[in-house]
Amino acid sequence: MTTFDEIIPKLVEIFQRQEDAANIRPLLINRDLNGRVRLIVDEKWKKDDRAMTVLDKIAQEMKEALGPHAYSAKQALLFESSFEETLPREIKFSLEGIEDVYVVDRLATEGNWSSISALNTTYSRIVFFSIKGGVGRSTALAATAWALAERGKRVLVLDLDLESPGLSSSLLPEDRRPAFGIADWLVEDLVENGDAVFEDMVATSALSHNGEIFVVPAHGVKAGEYVAKLGRVWMPKVCFDGSRELWPKRLSRLLDGLEKRWSPDVTLIDSRAGIDEVASACLTDLSASTIFLFAIDGDQTWSGYRILFKHWRTSGVVREIRERLQVVGAMIPEVGTDDYYHGLRERAWDAFSEELYDEVPAGAIATEDGIWSFDESDEGAPHFPWPVRWHRGFAALRSLHGKLTGIDAEEVQTIFGPLIDGLLPIIKTERGEP
Ligand SMILES: Nc1ncnc2c1ncn2[C@@H]1O[C@H](COP(=O)(O)OP(=O)(O)OP(=O)(O)O)[C@@H](O)[C@H]1O
Ligand SMILES: [Mg+2]
Repeated sequence: MTTFDEIIPKLVEIFQRQEDAANIRPLLINRDLNGRVRLIVDEKWKKDDRAMTVLDKIAQEMKEALGPHAYSAKQALLFESSFEETLPREIKFSLEGIEDVYVVDRLATEGNWSSISALNTTYSRIVFFSIKGGVGRSTALAATAWALAERGKRVLVLDLDLESPGLSSSLLPEDRRPAFGIADWLVEDLVENGDAVFEDMVATSALSHNGEIFVVPAHGVKAGEYVAKLGRVWMPKVCFDGSRELWPKRLSRLLDGLEKRWSPDVTLIDSRAGIDEVASACLTDLSASTIFLFAIDGDQTWSGYRILFKHWRTSGVVREIRERLQVVGAMIPEVGTDDYYHGLRERAWDAFSEELYDEVPAGAIATEDGIWSFDESDEGAPHFPWPVRWHRGFAALRSLHGKLTGIDAEEVQTIFGPLIDGLLPIIKTERGEP
């Protein structure tokens, strides 16, 4: 019996066989919420007997090949009168190797990990992501924010780990926390009331001496009815004209507003870990220029990242996202450091070279021939991990804020140096600073 993962390969086979269908283009394949497929075709083909014979044949073949994952041949064709207008609006990916045939994939969640928004050219946005939790992502973000502020930067920090927030407490003591947070704004925005909380969802951290750290927490000093709010933040907004704005777009609008208001040199975003709805929005919808992939070496880490990388490849967006990625080696151990680091680098290279880098044909030179590929030992390559050291001073801290209050720059540099030094030029070039 055909299962979900065979749907796409079998569709490719069907369209490869059906040469007669080459004239009936473009075509949309709709994979619905239950994982059942049918074709969406322009109504104009209804009048064309030859086209209808071919389409019926495809419908028949789909039912035979896909079984429970296809509609009956009779129900398999959906005719769309405004096909030409609908087509550009659909979020779709190409059926690999078949020209002008696209798959529209309906998910129960809105984070589909594959509609990548264009780079933001005005502001530097950096996302801290990890496929597994508890790898020191939020700690590294807080320390980086501190170090950048020490260098005089204005740093905006967003805690988007809405389901287990905590970053803000590492940068703000309780008496400085703002009244509201991101969840409050997302809920108020649904009823056109975002302005009521906008000014009171940001607080400045007293940790910064030379620059500024603006912290936007997940919730305010009083979390309030946080569970009830969290259950609503993902809602699409129905606008006055009846159109729907999906929540990642609402989040993106909030970020635009915050940057306009606070003019940061850089925005650091703490994403949720794993293949999660919020993480999807952070990585793909917020136009970030750099996405840190925190990694501790292990099978779970790399099998997780490979799932994501593969998805970007099959959904045809790999080129848009891959140049934004940078592996960060999380909590590099104190003992056996070199062996561990080399192992991590090797596994990172395996995953990147198999899933993301272009193949370099014999005789070609990647850098000269516009091929996106890197040697394993290329320090500037995205797979080459920027190391963050494990340090006893940061292990099992009761209060990161307490730790950062008395910290000296040298200690931060020893542990997080490569991350901070790697970030500085990204900020400079994008903001056009000297
Ligand atoms: N460089 C480090 N060296 C030693 N311990 C660290 C380091 N960074 C973080 N830790 C400790 O590891 C634990 C997890 O850190 P943190 O909360 O920053 O991870 P995270 O990846 O953000 O986790 P989550 O996925 O739960 O948000 C904490 O106890 C923290 O104090
Ligand atoms: Mg965290």
